[in-house]
Amino acid sequence: MNSAPAQGLVFHLDQGRVTHAGETNAVTEKIRLAMVGGGPGAFIGSVHRLAAAISDRYQLVAGAFCRDPEASRAFGVELGLAPARAYGSYQELLAAEAALPPASRIQCVAIVTPNDSHADISCAALEAGFHVLCDKPAAGCLEEALRMQSAVHASGRLFGLTHTYTGYPLVMEARDRIAAGALGELRRVHVSYLQDWLSREEDTSGSKQASWRNDPARSGESGAFADIGSHAFNLVEFMSGESITAVAAQLRSVVPGRTIDDDGSALFRLSSGAQGLLAASQVCTGSVNALKIELFGAEGAMSWQQEQPNTLLFKRRGEPDMVLHANMDYLGHSARAVARTPGGHPEGYLEAFANIYQGFADAVAAFPESPQSTGFASIDDGVAALRFIRAARLSSEQGSVWTELAAIERNTA
Ligand SMILES: NC(=O)c1ccc[n+]([C@@H]2O[C@H](COP(=O)([O-])OP(=O)(O)OC[C@H]3O[C@@H](n4cnc5c(N)ncnc54)[C@H](O)[C@@H]3O)[C@@H](O)[C@H]2O)c1
Repeated sequence: MNSAPAQGLVFHLDQGRVTHAGETNAVTEKIRLAMVGGGPGAFIGSVHRLAAAISDRYQLVAGAFCRDPEASRAFGVELGLAPARAYGSYQELLAAEAALPPASRIQCVAIVTPNDSHADISCAALEAGFHVLCDKPAAGCLEEALRMQSAVHASGRLFGLTHTYTGYPLVMEARDRIAAGALGELRRVHVSYLQDWLSREEDTSGSKQASWRNDPARSGESGAFADIGSHAFNLVEFMSGESITAVAAQLRSVVPGRTIDDDGSALFRLSSGAQGLLAASQVCTGSVNALKIELFGAEGAMSWQQEQPNTLLFKRRGEPDMVLHANMDYLGHSARAVARTPGGHPEGYLEAFANIYQGFADAVAAFPESPQSTGFASIDDGVAALRFIRAARLSSEQGSVWTELAAIERNTA
C-alpha cells in the first residue's frame, strides 16, 4: 500500500473490507449459500461467486448450475462443493437442503439463470423457506414479478435483486446528497445505458448469452429495455429517491431479423413532476458498457458514469465543477462504510457487486428482527421495473403515447 489510509478509517484488507474507527468488524459465521445457474461458460454466475467471496460473508455450499444434471453435478464438484450437495436440478437442491438439519442446510439461494426461470425458482426457494438473492430483471414479465411479490410476502423470507450499479459508493453518496437537498428541487434526469455487443446480425445467436436474450420466450417481454433499461430505471429511482410515474417510449428492433427490442428511448415523469430521458440500446457501435446518469436540480447537478465509477461530478451555476473521489474522508457514511481500499486506489464492478452481497448478508444476519435493508433492491423495485417495461412497450405500440404506470395492471389484465 503506497498511501496512508484516510483519517478515521481502519483497513482490514485480510477480510476484504474497511470499517470506520470505533466500529467492530466481528468475524461472523458464514452464510450458507446455494447457487442456481452460473454453470460452465455462463456470464454472471462467476461474478456472483466472486462478489460473495469479496464480501467475505458467505460460503457456497450447494448448487444446481445448469439444466444438464450430470454437467451440473460435475461443475459443482469442480467448484469444490461436497459431491452430495452438487445437485442435478434446483428441485433436487431445494428438497434435499430442506431435509437437512437447520444448522447445516442452506440459508439463501442466488439465482443467476435466464429471466424466464427466475419466477419459478424464486417461488420454489421461498416456499422451501430460503432467502433469495436473484439477478435482474426480477422476471420475464410483470405477471411473473407479481407472482414473486406474493411469494415473498407469503413466505416472510428475504428477497433481493442484484441491481449492481446501486452498489457503487459514489452512487450511494449522490443518493444521500440529493436526499439532503444538494440539488434543490429536482427538474430533469437523463440516463443512458448504451452497449454494442448486439450491433451486428451475427450477434443475434453468436453466444449463449445473446441467444436467450434475443428470444422473447426466454428473455421476456422486452430485450434491451429489460436487460439494461431495467438497470437504468432502477438507478433513476435509487438516486432521485422518486418514482417514475409515466412514460412515452419508442422501442425498436434495429438489427434485421430481431423479434425483440435492441434499442429504445423514453421520456418519463417523476413523482415530483420532474421529467427525464432514458435510453437503452445494445446496438450503439463503440459503446461497451456506457451507463451514464445526470440529475439536474434548481441549485445544482450531479453526474456519474459507470466506466469512471470512482468520480462523481457536482456542478453549480457560475462555480467551478467539484469532483468527488471515492474512498475519501469527506464522503458520507454510506459511501465510506462500503469502501475497501484507501483513497486513490480504484474500486469497481466486483466491489460494487460485493456491496450488494454485503447488504443482503446484513439482512440475513439480522433476520427476522430487521426486514429489508437498503443495501439491495427489493421485489417491489423489481415489480416497478417490470411495470415500467410493460408501460414502455405499450406506449411504443400505441405511437409513443404517454402511459401512466399506475394504470398498467388495470389495462393489461
Ligand atoms: N446484474 C447484472 O449486471 C447482470 C449482468 C449480466 C446478467 N445478469 C442477469 O443474470 C441472469 C443470467 O444472465 P447470464 O448472462 O449469466 O446468462 P448465461 O446464459 O451466461 O448463464 C445462465 C446459466 O444458467 C443456467 N441455467 C439455465 N436454466 C437453469 C435451470 N433451470 N437450472 C439451473 N441452471 C440453469 C445455464 O446453464 C447457464 O449456466 C439474467 O437474468 C441476466 O439478466 C445481470
